Amino acid sequence: MTLDLPTAASDAAPDFDQIIDRRGTHCVKWDMMEPLYGVRPDEGLAMWVADMDFRPPACVQRALERMTDHGVYGYFGDDRPYLTAIRWWMRERHGWDVAPEAIHTTHGLVNGVGLAIQAWTQQGDAVVLFTPVYHAFARVIRAAGRHVTECPLVQRDGRYEMDFAAYEGLLTGRERMLILCSPHNPGGRVWTREELEEVAAFARRHDLVLVSDEIHHDLVMPGHRHTPMALIPGVEDRLVMMTATTKTFNIAGAHIGNVIVPNESLRAPFAQVVGALGISPNSFGMHMATAAYSPEGAAWVDALTAYLDGNRRLFDEGVNAIPGVRSMALEATYLAWVDFSALGMESEEIAGRLARDAGIAANAGPSFGTGGEGFMRLNLAAPRATVAEAVGRLQRAFGDVQ
Ligand SMILES: Cc1ncc(COP(=O)(O)O)c(C=O)c1O
Repeated sequence: MTLDLPTAASDAAPDFDQIIDRRGTHCVKWDMMEPLYGVRPDEGLAMWVADMDFRPPACVQRALERMTDHGVYGYFGDDRPYLTAIRWWMRERHGWDVAPEAIHTTHGLVNGVGLAIQAWTQQGDAVVLFTPVYHAFARVIRAAGRHVTECPLVQRDGRYEMDFAAYEGLLTGRERMLILCSPHNPGGRVWTREELEEVAAFARRHDLVLVSDEIHHDLVMPGHRHTPMALIPGVEDRLVMMTATTKTFNIAGAHIGNVIVPNESLRAPFAQVVGALGISPNSFGMHMATAAYSPEGAAWVDALTAYLDGNRRLFDEGVNAIPGVRSMALEATYLAWVDFSALGMESEEIAGRLARDAGIAANAGPSFGTGGEGFMRLNLAAPRATVAEAVGRLQRAFGDVQ
């Protein structure tokens, strides 16, 4: 079997408007919404879990077809094309030169975070999170017997910012690691170079390992530009970069991610934990990811982000028309972060109206930590007709406040 090297761009434009029925396919987003939210899949809309209701680019499908045509599914070997593809993508799309020996392959980035916690912290240590933030961080940190030190983001001009002066007083002295979500989920901030420099200075000041989870770095809205933390000077000796193809190309089920440790002396503890847990790559994920990081994959991502930008505009316009409701303007990600707090309702009442009245399964804000109260997160990576339907349902569910 030949391994995939970057291929030329395909002419076929992706059809993101196509409605693909995912029900009954063992996908968590549609098949678990009734047990978890009480939203029936025959009439509900699944807008919670962060995967997309789109097929990946044809280059990824072809990589899988080559595997199934061959039909032998043994252990994976020779990751050179995979490493070449990652390095090509990071240089081409992010202006970042990655050394192949810095790249570790994990079974996704939640797995990567779990391994990082084992590698660079001890039981009883604390990890800093800028909340509200992706809920799995706190779950994994606590499950590992570490503490979470929440440093809440502040809202200025309708978007999240950090408040380092306030954070100095929140640290307990037990902190050994900081996990940054860049771009940020939820809220969709693309952190500026100046903000990243401040994060780096904070990590240095408090001697923290700086984990930068950049899984959303390709899903940036037109007019915004992501800066990899690896391009910020003076942080390399404590930096752990996390990237993946899974969010970008909608292949989360392939469970594959990259933990990239630029500094050689920082690598050893991570390699030791990976070895101790007997982790080796998933063959399907390796083939799909290698195929994704290609010119064809890049053209698909450009079409995708333009489509997602249209979805978020439609959504924001409709939802912001409801008095007292405001959707944060996304700079990145397809995860709308909607503030219902001005309505003065309890979080349960808001979540209930979405599930019960609108038939929408969406993530409740408090699950993202301090600052999430009064918010709901809604996934907009769906055909536009679905997003339009969601807007109509929300307007009706909150019709009494109009
Ligand atoms: C910031 C962030 N990190 C990690 C993940 C999940 O990563 P994986 O599927 O590779 O475990 C998500 C999924 O939404 C996410 O938003």
